[in-house]
Amino acid sequence: MISAVLREEILTCHSCKLRDGCRSPVVGELVGELVGVGVPTIMLVGEAPGEVEDRKGRPFHPTAPAGSILRALAAQVGIDCYWLTNANKCRPPGNRTPHPAERDACYPLLLKEIVEINPRVIGVVGLSAAARWFGNRTMAVINGDARAVRMRGSDVVRVIVPIQHPASYFHQGRDTRVLEIIKVGLERVLLEASR
Ligand code: URA
Repeated sequence: MISAVLREEILTCHSCKLRDGCRSPVVGELVGELVGVGVPTIMLVGEAPGEVEDRKGRPFHPTAPAGSILRALAAQVGIDCYWLTNANKCRPPGNRTPHPAERDACYPLLLKEIVEINPRVIGVVGLSAAARWFGNRTMAVINGDARAVRMRGSDVVRVIVPIQHPASYFHQGRDTRVLEIIKVGLERVLLEASR
């Protein structure tokens, strides 16, 4: 779905120190099957690969805790085809949150990915993925919000929807209300994509 040139650029990137501590950058992937227009109208962007993703080389791996939840909830709300990727392509040591400078270093790759995939709506999963456009407002406030933004360094304007990160389900003692909050965010993505 992305060009071989961009894939190579991601895999050979050394723009920040995260590359030194991970096995390999994780490239985005298409989830589901394309029908009709032949391009996914939805893109979901996580924060950064975790331990399983780093090992297996896929974003939000289906067998990893966060990946299994995100993929299952997306399917439950009816998002059956989307491009899945991360704002940072390399796993931070110990799964720490990427630093703002690391997010900035990876942003040109994300922008190129957005331009190539050309989604109608982008769901940003987790605060560090959303921070570029929503500042340091808490996820409790911005989950499911939708905002048309112009991507810095381009004329590209897209609708962005912040979504609570599925890892918070585990951080909050498997509170099932977290799953409902994530679904609210995903449902808003689907609504915006159908406008
Ligand atoms: N968390 C993320 O934000 N992305 C992944 O790919 C895995 C866990």
